Amino acid sequence: MKRFYDFFIQKAQKYYNENPKIGRGDFFTSPELDEAFGKSVAYFIKDYLNEFDNPKILELGAGNGIMARDILEVLDVAYIIYETSHYLTNVQKNLLNNKNVIWTSSLEELEPFEGIILSNEFFDALGIAPVKDKKELYINGLKEVWQEPHKDTRHFIDIFNIDDNYYELPLDAFYIYERLSKILKKGYMLTIDYGYKTSPYKNTIRGYKDSKIIQNIYTEDMFDITYMVDFSMLEKIGEYFGFKNIFLKKQRDFLIEIPYFVATLEEVCQEEEAYSIERCSRLKNLILSMGESFYVLFQQKL
Ligand SMILES: C[S@@+](CC[C@H](N)C(=O)[O-])C[C@H]1O[C@@H](n2cnc3c(N)ncnc32)[C@H](O)[C@@H]1O
Repeated sequence: MKRFYDFFIQKAQKYYNENPKIGRGDFFTSPELDEAFGKSVAYFIKDYLNEFDNPKILELGAGNGIMARDILEVLDVAYIIYETSHYLTNVQKNLLNNKNVIWTSSLEELEPFEGIILSNEFFDALGIAPVKDKKELYINGLKEVWQEPHKDTRHFIDIFNIDDNYYELPLDAFYIYERLSKILKKGYMLTIDYGYKTSPYKNTIRGYKDSKIIQNIYTEDMFDITYMVDFSMLEKIGEYFGFKNIFLKKQRDFLIEIPYFVATLEEVCQEEEAYSIERCSRLKNLILSMGESFYVLFQQKL
């Protein structure tokens, strides 16, 4: 008998360590669709970074390193990447070899700093514990079993007064926020991911292989496992650890309020060459399809 929480982490770590096909098969993320995404994030955070004498950016789970590259094209700032996949760390190091970046695979190693913590599609890869009627999901071979929660899940249920509905409790997000609240002396946290504004009360866990959904996640060996992020939970966890909510909005609304993004969209979509037409459709994807399903959470640590 194994906790679903442990099963999830093993599958996610295996996927990201062995052969994640980010941007070449299993999925494309927003930074990979167009450089305007990372650059827009850079223009958004620029003024906030100026509040600090010696600011740093910490990016959580940087994938192929593309968002870091595009941000560092706009901003000259010390950049730290937290990444646990050796495979992706090497990909990032090759891409960012002449930039002001350091890497860590452990948040425990980081010295406290002031600045900004960023992530795109990081929280959807972290361990969750599904619960319903305050029972936790375990798996026994291919069978799902609901039983008394592990003490860590119980602790989460008690702190956040979880009721009898179905929830995918973000236990690892809780541990990460706890650590980040010690590392970030003062600053902001910008979290971008697909998910819900209020708890969905339904199973959002999915496995993907070669862009197709997997029918049975318990019989497959290697695949991308993920779920929709419950942003109401991230807000509550943040508040518990001293992060005040500034806003939670759809990626579409976030991007169209950034003048650089709007100017790029207008310029590219006026041009008639094949490359620009294609680029225009990728930029529109960031505000139409992905713009609808992705949220941006901005929190402040005082
Ligand atoms: C879905 S990918 C997103 C990559 C990138 N941010 C992007 O938007 O293209 C998730 C990233 O988080 C990393 N990751 C997953 N679980 C992690 C963990 N527990 N600690 C640190 N990084 C993790 C993965 O290795 C990968 O870089």
